[in-house]
Amino acid sequence: MIKSRWNKPAALLALMTAAMTVHAATSATAATPSATTAPAAQKLPDQVAAILPLCASCHGVDGISSVALYPNLAGQKPEYLAKQLRDFKAARRDDAVMRPMAEPLDDAAIEALSRHFGTMPGAH
Ligand code: HEC
Repeated sequence: MIKSRWNKPAALLALMTAAMTVHAATSATAATPSATTAPAAQKLPDQVAAILPLCASCHGVDGISSVALYPNLAGQKPEYLAKQLRDFKAARRDDAVMRPMAEPLDDAAIEALSRHFGTMPGAH
């Protein structure tokens, strides 16, 4: 009984140390990619930064898609991309995948996402 009483704080301390080590490790690794992507990420409004990983999961982080039926967005004219997003949203361009993606986007988000992907270097 006495022994387990003393073991508890020790176990807690070990847990806390482990948690702090993990936290420090995660912060250190998180700092590296954010440092390289900082210029682009800083320009994006919060709503856009939050949705960007979803777009990138299909269209590629660099705007170059690895799936044949998912178009590249990099190097495309931002005005054209913005028009497509507005057309998906209004169902003037009909696509079951892209309509729900475009629906929640407001004008500012559409402009920012179109600029973000369109100004990336395209595939050659
Ligand atoms: C599940 C995969 C998927 C996700 C997630 C996705 N897209 Fe798409 N996107 C597509 C597909 C597929 C098309 C082609 C639709 C068609 O065939 O008409 C497309 C087309 C587009 C186009 C038109 C490109 C062109 O050349 O006409 C734009 C712009 C676009 N997506 C932007 C986005 C943005 C911005 C996001 C995030 C909000 C996003 N997409 C999320 C799959 C996806």
